[in-house]
This record gives sequence, C-alpha cells and structure tokens, in this order.
Amino acid sequence: MKAVQILGDISSPRIVTNDDMPTPSPSGSEILIKVHAAGITGDAVTWPEIYATPSRIPGHEISGTVAALGPDYLGPLAVNQEVFGMLSADRGQGQAEYAICSAAEIAPMPSSISHAEAAVLPIPLLTAWETIVDHGKITPSTKVLLTGASGAVGSVFVQLVSLLTGAHTIALASAQNHEALRKHGAENVVDYKAAGWEKSIGKFDVVFDTVGGDILTKTWDAVADDGIVVTVGDPPPAWAFGRGKAVEAETRPGVRYMHFIVSPDAERLAEASSFIHSGRMKPLAVQSFGFGDAVEGWTYAQQRNRGKKAVIVFDVYNCKRD
Ligand SMILES: NC(=O)c1ccc[n+]([C@@H]2O[C@H](COP(=O)([O-])OP(=O)(O)OC[C@H]3O[C@@H](n4cnc5c(N)ncnc54)[C@H](OP(=O)(O)O)[C@@H]3O)[C@@H](O)[C@H]2O)c1
Repeated sequence: MKAVQILGDISSPRIVTNDDMPTPSPSGSEILIKVHAAGITGDAVTWPEIYATPSRIPGHEISGTVAALGPDYLGPLAVNQEVFGMLSADRGQGQAEYAICSAAEIAPMPSSISHAEAAVLPIPLLTAWETIVDHGKITPSTKVLLTGASGAVGSVFVQLVSLLTGAHTIALASAQNHEALRKHGAENVVDYKAAGWEKSIGKFDVVFDTVGGDILTKTWDAVADDGIVVTVGDPPPAWAFGRGKAVEAETRPGVRYMHFIVSPDAERLAEASSFIHSGRMKPLAVQSFGFGDAVEGWTYAQQRNRGKKAVIVFDVYNCKRD
C-alpha cells in the first residue's frame, strides 16, 4: 500500500512517501479502514510516538470506509460504512491507504461533508471537547479565554463551547481572523499583537491555550486566582508530563494548570457528527494534497497563517463529494 513515512529522528525528521508498504490486517476486534483522506497536524513531527513505530507512518486523523472487521468484532459497524476518527497517540499510522483502528476510535462520519473535510476534524473536536467537559468543567457562567483561536483546535473550540455549554469565549487571534471568529460565536476577539493585552483583558476562570511559549506565559496574568490554565500548545511547557512545577505557580498558588494529550472518543465524535450534519457546527476549511504531493502537504501544514488545515487524499474518487 501507499503510505507517508517520517524517517530520521526527532531532531532531523525526513518526510517521504513509500508505494510499497505491507497492508495491515485486523486481528481480534480491530477494524481495517480504507483511508480516503488523512489530516496533517504540522507539529506532529515533534511527537515522539511516531519515532517509536516500526512503520514510521504518521497520522492520527482519518476518514474512509470500513474495509474489514476483525474476527472478534461484534459491534454495529459494517463493511463499506463511511467513518471518521482519531487513532490513539500510540497507534497512529493513519497516513496510509489502509489503517487499523479500534471501535473506540471511529464513528460514522457526517454525510453532509466530504472525506477531506471529515479527516481534519477528529483531533480539533476531541481536544476541544476534552478541555470543555473533562478539564475546564465549563458551565454557562464560566469566563473562558482561548489562545490560537483562528487555528484548527481554536475555531472548533469556539463553536463547541457555545453548543455544549452556552459559555462565551474571548478569543485571541490576529486581526484578519476576528470577523470569522465572531461568526463562530466568540463574544469578543483580541489581537495578541497588541502590547499589554494580558494586563487589560480581564480575569478568566478557564484559559485554554493552543499556542504555548510566550503566549502561554502571558495568560497567567489573565487567569483568575482560583482559575485553571489548560494547554496543548507544542512544544509542551517544561513542566508537562510531570517534569516539575510552573515557575508562575510560585506567585499564583491558587491557579491550577495542566497539559494533556487528547484521547480518542467514538461517542463524542458521533455527537459532533450530528452537530455538523445539522449545520450547527461548520467544518474547517481544508487544503487537499494528493498522495504524490504529500511532502508538500506537510510543508504547508507547518506554515503559519495558512488559514486551512492540510489533508492528504488517498482515494480521489471518494473524496470528490464536496
Ligand atoms: N496535546 C494535544 O493532544 C494536542 C491536540 C491538538 C493540537 N495540539 C497542538 O496544539 C497546537 C494548535 O493546533 P492547531 O491544529 O489548532 O494548529 P493551527 O491550526 O496551526 O493553529 C495554530 C494557531 O496558533 C496561532 N499561533 C501560532 N503561533 C503563535 C504565536 N507565536 N503567537 C500567537 N498565536 C500563534 C496561529 O495564529 P496565526 O497564525 O493567525 O497567528 C493559529 O491560529 C499545535 O501546536 C498542535 O500540535 C496538541
């Protein structure tokens, strides 16, 4: 089968395509997916798990059809059913013509969108959902600050927080993205390039940071004394993965803070699918690359201000339903 590979090591990754990889087969209750499209998160070259898989195939987001069911699979999915999903951090290997997954990782895809559009949604959807419900415990009265709001995770978060909780979000983004974010439901939008925004923006119960670095540091000035800072920005902060304490916590002892790696969740994907199908949530804008242009797709995905999320199309015929 055709697949993308990341060769080299984490300090000097080399993205290549390979036409001659072995096609996996499902065992136990696993499911084999014929991948029509696979999303690219540019920062994934920095995720260590890719370098631990023998195949070196990256990719955690897929959309496609069920090609085969493992001998012990007893669930409702059927061969040829259209699905989308997120492969767990240690499984990955989605940027290939065929990928293995479990039933907990996929759900029927929204039939109103194309495979290319479906393939870029699972990570942003599940990251936003986990923040809203599990970590932020956001309710209608929670004051929420979001960084990187024009990105894939940010633009899904703005819509989802409003659908799931009714809470309003103040979104940080560069000026050209403000109008779109207001349409998605952001209560207010602030340009992070304006000096001193962190001192004047107010205090928030939940900060959801998708940028990291200097922006994450500044959000400590904008979080309430008993609030929480949740970050997924790459590279993760020095204190992530239990490696110590945030220096900011010394002067803000009441503030909780955490970094997490998103987990698959088939039920949440199915519910989000209904939001999209009914038009209550807008899909992300996509930039499609054929398998032959997959390396170019990765280069695009690693650029700032690109406005669209990159997707590799493995099955052109099935991806034409736009
Ligand atoms: N831990 C996890 O489980 C997990 C899950 C999903 C994503 N992530 C990570 O979360 C991050 C966001 O993902 P994404 O898919 O939403 O990325 P994206 O689509 O590339 O969006 C990134 C956003 O951050 C903004 N940004 C980038 N650098 C900035 C800076 N220096 N200052 C201010 N804003 C900046 C960009 O705004 P402008 O370009 O408009 O300035 C853009 O809106 C990535 O690092 C990704 O790897 C982690």
